[in-house]
Amino acid sequence: MTGLDAPAGLADGADLAAVRAWCADALVSLDRRDAPLVRLAHAELRRQRGTLNLVAAASPTLPAALVAHALLFSSVTAEGYAGGRYHPGTEVVDQVEQLARGRAERLFGAPHANVQPLSGSAANLAVLYGLLDPGDTVLALELDHGGHLTHVSRGASIAKRVTASYYEVDERGLIDHAALAVLVKQVRPRLLICGGSAYPRQLDFAAFRAAADEVDALLMADVSHVSGLVAAGAHPSPVPHCDVITTSTYKQLCGPRGGLLLRGASSRLDARALDRAVFPGFQGTPDFGGIAAKAVALGFAARPEFAAAMRRVVRYARTFAGALADHGVPVVSGGTDSHLVLADLRAVAVTGRQVADVLRRLGVLVNMNLVPRDPRPAAETSGIRIGTNDLGFRRVGDAEVAELARATAAVVAEVAGGGRPDAVVRGSRGRDLAGCVAGITARGYREDWRQGGAVA
Ligand SMILES: Cc1ncc(COP(=O)(O)O)c(C=O)c1O
Repeated sequence: MTGLDAPAGLADGADLAAVRAWCADALVSLDRRDAPLVRLAHAELRRQRGTLNLVAAASPTLPAALVAHALLFSSVTAEGYAGGRYHPGTEVVDQVEQLARGRAERLFGAPHANVQPLSGSAANLAVLYGLLDPGDTVLALELDHGGHLTHVSRGASIAKRVTASYYEVDERGLIDHAALAVLVKQVRPRLLICGGSAYPRQLDFAAFRAAADEVDALLMADVSHVSGLVAAGAHPSPVPHCDVITTSTYKQLCGPRGGLLLRGASSRLDARALDRAVFPGFQGTPDFGGIAAKAVALGFAARPEFAAAMRRVVRYARTFAGALADHGVPVVSGGTDSHLVLADLRAVAVTGRQVADVLRRLGVLVNMNLVPRDPRPAAETSGIRIGTNDLGFRRVGDAEVAELARATAAVVAEVAGGGRPDAVVRGSRGRDLAGCVAGITARGYREDWRQGGAVA
């Protein structure tokens, strides 16, 4: 084991003292230079402490990852990869990158990881620009059926370079693999993409692989939304089935803004081709501070406490879906297998925007979201998307989450039933929900998330 692999909490006393002194100095310097920013940081701290972030694309970033991001690594400018950098002075960040890569590979059981993508979008676009030829056909989940902009959606620049086709969910809100297999044979894509941003059910990677194999297509999984569940074994892994896997590192891995790219276990793609797709294909210098923060988050995601949190996340999401349905608000696909619940407001005369706004005023953050075949525009929507990642790391139990879900559902039903926003916020149901939020936020996050355990 090298010094840099040493378990957390076992850093040499001199190392810790030097880094601590640097941090203290940096904080004083920020305060002297930019008091308005320090005030804003405090305001943000209060805001975060007083709200429940049920945005499905978010997980609470580990404090240790935020600090790792803020250390000196972001000061290093260097293109390329260890052993082939274009700038000097990289002997330490080479090891930081190696640490993050190794942890990603071990966590997901993947033969190769690239930790340089600056975001999940950048990871996707690196693959699409780097591995496809102009005019190649790509088949991906339709945006308003739960796909993502970077999956060659009509608004994305990549859609102009390739021939984009889309598959949809069926009337139940599920991917119909028999129908998809037929479509794949018609469209004959060079690349099939699975994964998305608003699909609540498990992804059947083996079925996607079988469809792709029929036409010799490459298969890419974007598991940005469920990478924490995958890491924890609470969702099937794409690694045995897909050629390339991408993910954001902040959505469910409690890490920094950033992305990650993995090579599948039996991928036809060469690891060097994937690396080249990222640099020089799509990006310049990586953010080594971000890579250090990814290393911290990936280390935490390998711990049993993280796996336990992910199991709670799925349980709480099922509780939410059930509470909404019990209060007359259907959910797309009739439930969830993940952290994500997509409430369908089509049957009631209210928009996702209106509901999300009332919930925000009561301290519950969710986003408005299109539902499949939504008659409303994206700026209004007929759905709200609820995620339980945040709750999985908080000091809450099942009974309290059930109470929160019931109170949220009651507010959603009241708004959906025509209640005026001000009246709902001030009324008994609004006060009930605000009380639940205050009770949960007052206790904050679990100790294992705040302090973390040693990283193996
Ligand atoms: C499925 C999916 N992929 C990629 C992204 C983009 O991730 P990032 O914000 O890291 O660019 C998102 C974010 O919304 C997403 O939902």
